[in-house]
This record gives sequence, C-alpha cells and structure tokens, in this order.
Amino acid sequence: MNRQRPADAPVLLRARGLTRRYPAPRTGLFQRRPFTTALEDADLDVRAGSAVGIIGESGSGKSTLVRLLLALDTPTAGTIEFDGRPVDPRASARSLHWLRRRTGIVFQDPYASLDPRMSVGRVIGEPLWALGTEGDRRARVREVLQDVGLEPEMASRFPHEFSGGQRQRIAIARAVVHRPRLLVGDEPLSALDVTVRAQILELLAELRQKDELTLVLVSHDIGVVQNLCDEVLVMKDGRIVEEGPTEKVLLQPQAAYTRRLLASIPVIEHPPTRP
Ligand SMILES: Nc1ncnc2c1ncn2[C@@H]1O[C@H](COP(=O)(O)OP(=O)(O)O)[C@@H](O)[C@H]1O
Ligand SMILES: [Mg+2]
Repeated sequence: MNRQRPADAPVLLRARGLTRRYPAPRTGLFQRRPFTTALEDADLDVRAGSAVGIIGESGSGKSTLVRLLLALDTPTAGTIEFDGRPVDPRASARSLHWLRRRTGIVFQDPYASLDPRMSVGRVIGEPLWALGTEGDRRARVREVLQDVGLEPEMASRFPHEFSGGQRQRIAIARAVVHRPRLLVGDEPLSALDVTVRAQILELLAELRQKDELTLVLVSHDIGVVQNLCDEVLVMKDGRIVEEGPTEKVLLQPQAAYTRRLLASIPVIEHPPTRP
C-alpha cells in the first residue's frame, strides 16, 4: 500500500500531560468529593499531513481527548499547541477563532448534529459566516457539496430530506467548508450501515488527499483505521497504552490490552481507497 508517511513533517498538533477529571457524585456527607479521571497525562504529536487513529473500548477517554485537542473542553492539567501556537482553552470564543479556522470536527450521529430548522446550505455555510472568512461563501458551499458527492442544488433542502449517509456527507461538508488543516472525526462512521460506511471512508481518504488534511480519527472499526491511518493510539482507562505506525500496532501489538482489544473488535472489509 502506498502510504504517505510524513515522518519528518512538522508537528501540527502537540499535547503534553493532558488530564481531565470530572467531579463524581459524593458518596457520603463527610467524604471528600470523588472524581472520575477521564484522561490521564496524555502526550501526543500529530504531524502535518498524517492520519492518526484512536482506538480503545467505550469509556477509555477517546472523546475526552479529542474534545480537549480542539479546545471544546478545558483540561484539568496539560498543554496543547497547534502549529507551534499555544491553545488557551479558557480563552473567549473570539480569541479561539484562529483555532476554529484551522480545525473541523465530525461527530458520530448525523441525525443529532444537524440543526433541522436550517437549510443544508445554511448548515454547511454557517462556519464561513461565523468565522468571517473571505470570498464568495455561497460559491464555496456549492463547491464543497460537490466535493462530498452531493448536488449543489441540495443547498436549499432540509436535513430531514436526506438519508443517514447523505447527512454524514453534509456534516463532513460543514466540517471542511472553511478549509481547515485538521479534521477530527469522533466515530464518524459508527452510526452508518456497512455500505455507506465504505463510501464515507472513501470520501475521507479523497478529502485527505485533495485538501492535504491532517486527520485524527476515533474509530472502533479496525478496518477504518487500517485503511486511513498512518499511526494508531490505543487507549484504556484514560491512558494511552500503546502507539505507533498502524501496521506495527495492528500486526505486532506490544501491550496485552491491545491484543485483547484487537481480538474483540469488529473487523469490516473495505474496498481499498488508494491504488
Ligand atoms: N461530562 C462528563 N461528566 C462526567 N464524566 C464524564 C463526562 N464525559 C466523560 N466522562 C467519563 O469519562 C470517561 C471517558 O469518557 P469518554 O471520553 O466519553 O470515553 P470514550 O469516548 O472512549 O467512550 C468515562 O468514564 C466517562 O463516563
Ligand atoms: Mg466517545
């Protein structure tokens, strides 16, 4: 397989010591307030142009990690840099515009993530208006609709008129409309049926190539990670327990946990997305 392996590309996203604790319900009146550690001391370097997969059982901290990486949540401890610039998750929405312009996210559920009252064109174009990007915004919405395999005329229709797979294309269009450098997917394929999943996987691979996107992808599907990702992180109980090049981690896992996880996880065959 002809994998792009940007081993000497600059680091686009760097996290050090990322930790997130949540207060848990008090067990007794005089007890100290307990907490859940969703993420503990995570270090991460994502190189420009690479695709990093994150796998791990449910509750292992994958969503917490990606939310922190995009400053959608505030860490209890730790630091993040994007393109060498420190990210202050406590900063105002406006002071985080620079990060929002360079990043996009797609979530698992294409039904919950699209505002049903907005036309598809508005849903997709909203980041352009919110971020005040230059240029012909309507033209860009039509263009990105085509990039994700939909018709430009669909801009005037509403999300409920579309299937799950089409809605996920719309969600992806919205996530890349402002030409981010980093696209994060939190299980973006998990709610889709197998055929549609393969199509969306192919779309992500295309976008990655065409727009030189850096990708961080949470997935419970090893086939997806194998197809799309150069590197994999394995998470367990809020910690990164293993990381490395995809083939190495999947074929010669070092941690006992990774071996158990790989044995238990569903593997779905996908058509090859690259020559
Ligand atoms: N808002 C929250 N409040 C309290 N606990 C949370 C919250 N979000 C996540 N957690 C806890 O943090 C841990 C990691 O969750 P999460 O990052 O969603 O895992 P994953 O995405 O791998 O399934 C879980 O134990 C979860 O219950
Ligand atoms: Mg999750």
